[in-house]
Amino acid sequence: MRWLPIALGLSGVLCAAYSGFQSPKRTTIVITGDIAGYLSPCGCTTPMTGGIARQATLVHRLERSSDVVLLANGALSGALNAQEELKIMALSEMFGALRAAAINLSHDDARFGIGTLQTIQNLTDQKLICGSIEPLTAPAMRTSAQQGGLLIGGVASHPDGLARSLGSHPVAMEEAVHRLVNDATEGSLVPVLLLDGSESDASAIAVQFPALKLVIYRSYSDSPQKPIKVGRTLLVTPGPYGKSVVTLSFDGENFAEYQVVRLGPEYADDPQVGRFIGEYLRKVDKAGFIDRVARRPSAAFAGSRTCGLCHEKDFAIWKHSKHAVGLKSLEDQGHARDPDCVSCHVVGLDFVGGFRSRAKTPDLAAVGCESCHGPGAHHSQNPQTHVMPKVGMRKCLPCHAPDRSPKFDSLTYWTQILHR
Ligand code: HEC
Ligand code: HEC
Ligand code: HEC
Ligand code: HEC
Repeated sequence: MRWLPIALGLSGVLCAAYSGFQSPKRTTIVITGDIAGYLSPCGCTTPMTGGIARQATLVHRLERSSDVVLLANGALSGALNAQEELKIMALSEMFGALRAAAINLSHDDARFGIGTLQTIQNLTDQKLICGSIEPLTAPAMRTSAQQGGLLIGGVASHPDGLARSLGSHPVAMEEAVHRLVNDATEGSLVPVLLLDGSESDASAIAVQFPALKLVIYRSYSDSPQKPIKVGRTLLVTPGPYGKSVVTLSFDGENFAEYQVVRLGPEYADDPQVGRFIGEYLRKVDKAGFIDRVARRPSAAFAGSRTCGLCHEKDFAIWKHSKHAVGLKSLEDQGHARDPDCVSCHVVGLDFVGGFRSRAKTPDLAAVGCESCHGPGAHHSQNPQTHVMPKVGMRKCLPCHAPDRSPKFDSLTYWTQILHR
């Protein structure tokens, strides 16, 4: 086959020529934020949406065909406590691994103080930015970051609290944005604003600074299906709890192809971020947060098996319901010692006599009889003198909360659990 080497040689030349002419990779902007401590997709909704391991998979997929600029608009944590601090660490590891372009320091994350911010800086290659306070001596924090022809600024609409948390002085929003726009013009860059502020703050800024083509704001409502435009400025929000991200294309001048990407099960978990979450859950377990939850006094619990001794039929029906596997669902996902989850999946976590662990309180290790009927040890000992109260719909609602049980419909759910 004399022709083969020639054919191969020719195709080699063609390939080289082709790659030489290939247009530069496109740029995709990926916008996240308002994660509020939701690292994992909550199994509570079908299909399960969100989770940072899925975000990472999306970013890696986009990286195959474009240069990704990953922007995080803060609100990594959902509250100020030691468990949330561990979440900030896991998120920072992820942002470091994904080479995020910028992470805006939001007023809620700032409450964790200098030490935590320093750790974020170390884990993310100094990508935490803030233009709303006078510079700190430590940690070093830039007011903006640069990537892919963009100058990305981080600004808070109400910088006072942020400054107070860090012992610094606030810089007014207008002043901080003015500086961003000036710096961008000088550097021939396109300014993008990560705003720790609401949609109305964002639209006021867009009116005042039409040079801004993209403003990212905070909201706990889902991202609108169509982008909001104020003049020629796009206003974008990533949507809450990491359930979705927003992507845009950028051609060097303009943003287009706005898309809200819901992170459903079609996005597999990225293994590396999966390991960060696994490590986080091991730390949660080891720290023993679950052993230290605040507990109120209450009457004594009997446990579902005791109730079943006299109410056999009710027990048999309950045993085959989803409530009976409440804790097992968490065990399957590694969340069985996670205070973020357990209270709704067992009996009486927040009561002195309630669930401790499967080993110590095996008969409270599910959504049991007493999750709905209330503590019943007295009734079990003396049913005639201690009558159990009626169960009303309001017993369901603390657990079947909208973010955990979005399909909850009182009539259908109520008839499903009846056991007489
Ligand atoms: C020693 C046996 C016994 C045990 C244990 C027991 N019950 Fe009862 N329970 C009774 C009897 C007897 C009645 C009244 C007759 C009936 O409705 O069957 C009753 C009634 C009830 C009622 C109806 C109250 C009403 O207003 O009619 C509920 C609800 C109930 N029990 C729940 C429970 C729960 C929850 C447990 C476990 C915490 C439990 N029981 C444990 C014997 C028992
Ligand atoms: C506010 C109460 C609450 C909290 C907190 C909560 N859950 Fe749930 N979870 C529920 C309810 C209610 C359901 C049932 C939802 C439905 O079917 O409508 C559920 C269902 C589930 C299921 C079963 C899904 C299925 O399809 O069978 C899993 C798994 C789960 N939750 C995991 C978690 C994890 C992990 C956490 C913590 C990160 C958590 N839950 C926190 C209330 C809660
Ligand atoms: C998801 C909540 C829930 C769970 C879990 C649950 N129940 Fe009930 N139970 C109810 C509701 C709602 C009713 C009907 C309303 C009422 O009469 O209080 C009821 C009714 C009853 C009644 C009859 C009361 C009557 O008025 O006739 C008994 C007895 C009872 N439950 C026992 C049990 C036992 C035993 C278990 C555990 C094996 C259990 N229940 C688990 C919610 C629950
Ligand atoms: C202590 C928290 C808690 C309470 C109280 C509670 N639930 Fe649930 N419920 C759950 C959890 C958790 C699940 C999911 C369990 C699993 O699959 O792991 C669930 C599942 C269910 C399901 C099954 C849904 C499915 O996908 O099949 C129904 C129906 C339901 N609950 C109805 C009710 C009703 C009605 C009430 C009030 C009378 C109630 N629940 C009270 C936590 C609770």
